Amino acid sequence: MDFHGDYQAVYRLTGDKLLNSGSCHDFDHTLRVMKNAEMLLTYHPDADREIVMLAALLHDIARPEEDASKGKRCHAMLAYEMVPGILKDAGFPEHIARKVALAVKTHRFRGKNEPESLEADLVFDADKLDSLGAVGIGRAFLFAGHENARLHNTQSEALNSPAYSREDTAYREFLVKLRYLPRRMRSAAGRKIAVERAAFMTAFFEQLNLETGIAESNIQPEE
Ligand SMILES: [Fe+2]
Ligand SMILES: [Fe+2]
Repeated sequence: MDFHGDYQAVYRLTGDKLLNSGSCHDFDHTLRVMKNAEMLLTYHPDADREIVMLAALLHDIARPEEDASKGKRCHAMLAYEMVPGILKDAGFPEHIARKVALAVKTHRFRGKNEPESLEADLVFDADKLDSLGAVGIGRAFLFAGHENARLHNTQSEALNSPAYSREDTAYREFLVKLRYLPRRMRSAAGRKIAVERAAFMTAFFEQLNLETGIAESNIQPEE
């Protein structure tokens, strides 16, 4: 890649830092988000590739700090503070570092900060696409397993139970959050792919309902 500074140094630093993160937000997740970003860039060639790829690489750099604080500190805000220093040390100019930091700051689903540039939109979408489709199903089960949740439950059990309980299944994550992701997407390409991947998840959970004898097939895919 044709970047201003030492991209490999930033890549190594990020890989080392996220090596022991939880499996839903480890370096593999970052690599998939970068792959999604590459794909979205092909639909949006007017976006600044260097900003998008650096922000995709660094977007979850502060996950370990958020985890260590048991969620009290927001990894997007922490990363926003850390990124300029990381990129300066790697020889990137300040104007690049500033744009990357802003895109990192606004990548979070729950964050109050909305993306304010095409580059930030693509980073947001690249991250959310990793929660959908076959990968999204895999990650939802990884998380549920980590929390010792059941393999599956009914819609009523899922929707009437709190997070981090035994009923906090992959199905609950899908019903509460993931099926609504397509409407949160920022770019046209991101939205189109998100709709397809959410429909795949709907089909998967309908099959799971069928196999487990749960008689409900009223899962509405997001349009
Ligand atoms: Fe994140
Ligand atoms: Fe992420």
